[in-house]
This record gives sequence, structure tokens and C-alpha cells, in this order.
Amino acid sequence: MSQSSQHAPAGGGFQKILETNSILLIVGILLLVSVGGIVEIVPLFYLKNTIEKVEGVRPYTPLELAGRNIYVREGCYTCHSQMIRPLRDEVERYGHYSLAAESMYDHPFQWGSKRNGPDLARVGGKYSNDWQRDHMRSPQSVVPSSIMPGYPFLASAPLKAEHLAEQMRLLRVVGVPYSDEQIENAQADLLAQNGADSAAAAEMQKRYPNAVLNDSPAKGGVTEEDALIAYLQHLGVSVDFKLYEDKANIR
Ligand code: HEC
Repeated sequence: MSQSSQHAPAGGGFQKILETNSILLIVGILLLVSVGGIVEIVPLFYLKNTIEKVEGVRPYTPLELAGRNIYVREGCYTCHSQMIRPLRDEVERYGHYSLAAESMYDHPFQWGSKRNGPDLARVGGKYSNDWQRDHMRSPQSVVPSSIMPGYPFLASAPLKAEHLAEQMRLLRVVGVPYSDEQIENAQADLLAQNGADSAAAAEMQKRYPNAVLNDSPAKGGVTEEDALIAYLQHLGVSVDFKLYEDKANIR
């Protein structure tokens, strides 16, 4: 046997042709990788949902949605995450780890990757609206060592909400189940949650169970601060984990 035949690639002529022709080799690699890709990806198209549904999670109310827009606009996510990881230290500090279903109506999601400040996934109900107001206007007035910037201008900025119904319609296209009734009543529900009259509030709460009313609305119209705080107060309060804790020791 000669040297060269000892080192010739096994597998005969076809493999030799592939390995000595770079274009053919690339085509071959692409074919191979796409078969692998198709096998992994296509089954996902036939799943209705990859997120396990969890009781209590509902779409945002118009006021919360408007507040969420301000959260995104102001870039709060550059310092705050909204995702509690299933690690002991996180669960002890922030509460139950985040479930996929809890952000299923978030477009775009606000999980974040930076924590200059604490995670906000369960900040809802942790403080009163008054504390939130003081903190937004001047964080140092309630947390002296805070490095968070103040957002005092939100308190005097009237909320621009004329496009909310359109935004809700758009969110419906990507899977948020807003009903026609919810979209039609966007403006009324926004005012109702911001502490208008109690009859309207009851109507709103029929459409959005567990919506918390603003107990200290700014005088003279809804402000951006009102909306932002309504959003913050809704973070992480949808699921009643006590229902699950008894069934399985997930904490
Ligand atoms: C430069 C980074 C930074 C930015 C930007 C920022 N924060 Fe903070 N935030 C912090 C830090 C640090 C703390 C912890 C100290 C404190 O409570 O002020 C904090 C605390 C908070 C808390 C209290 C959390 C808790 O569990 O005690 C809330 C609520 C909050 N921020 C909301 C916001 C909102 C809403 C925005 C956007 C309008 C925002 N933050 C923007 C850094 C930031």
C-alpha cells in the first residue's frame, strides 16, 4: 500500500468530491443543518401555546397599559429587571420566581438584564401609592442612599391616552385577548380606574378583575405619574401563589 491511499478519506468517491470542492461542501452542510433545524422547529408550529396558562393573569387595564408605555419610554428597564429567577436568594428577597404566564401579555417584555435597582416583578402592593409618588418625585426623600434619578415631571405631565384603543387593537393582533367591549371602553375605563365615580369603577372591574383603583389621583386630570403607579401596583399581583403553595412545596 502506498502512503497516499493509506490517508485517503474513507467512504469512496462521493465523500472525496465533497471534501475537495468547497462549494459542494457548503451546500452539503446547509442541507444537513436545515434538516436538523426543521426537525426541531416545525413541531413548535403545531403547538397552540408554549406557555402554561395560569389563573389570574389578565391583560393590562388601559391605565396600567398607559403606565407601562411610560415605563418603557423612560427606560426604567435599563436599571430594573422584571424576572425573578428560580434561585434561593432571589426567591427569598423578591418572592415566588416569575412564571412565563405572568409576562405573556407583555409586548415587548420587560425582563431586562440589568439590576442597578431591585427587580420589580413583584413590586405591586409592596408600597402605598403615596410612597410611590414620593419615591418617583425624589427617590432620596424616602431612600436616602438611593442612586435612582427622580422623575418629578411625570406628576405634572397630563397623560396622553388618545391612542390607547388603537394600541389595544394592535396588541390583540399579537395575541392579547382584549375584547371589543374592552377596546370600546378604553377611555372610560382609564378614568374609572383613576378614581372617578364608583359605578364606573365597578363596570371597569367587571372587565378587569382585581384592578386596583387609584386611591389618591392627582387633581385636574390623569397624569403620567398616575398611570405609571397603576402599572407598578399591578406588577406580580395577578397570581395567588397561596393556592399553589399548599398543593406543592414550590417555595
Ligand atoms: C439609574 C438607575 C435607575 C433608573 C433609571 C430607575 N431606577 Fe428605580 N431604583 C433604582 C435603585 C438603585 C433603587 C433602589 C433604591 C430606591 O429604592 O430608590 C430603585 C428603586 C425603585 C423602586 C422601589 C423598589 C423596591 O422594591 O423597593 C421602584 C418602584 C422603582 N425603582 C421604579 C422605577 C421606575 C418606574 C423607573 C423609571 C421611571 C426607575 N425606577 C428608574 C435605580 C433606578
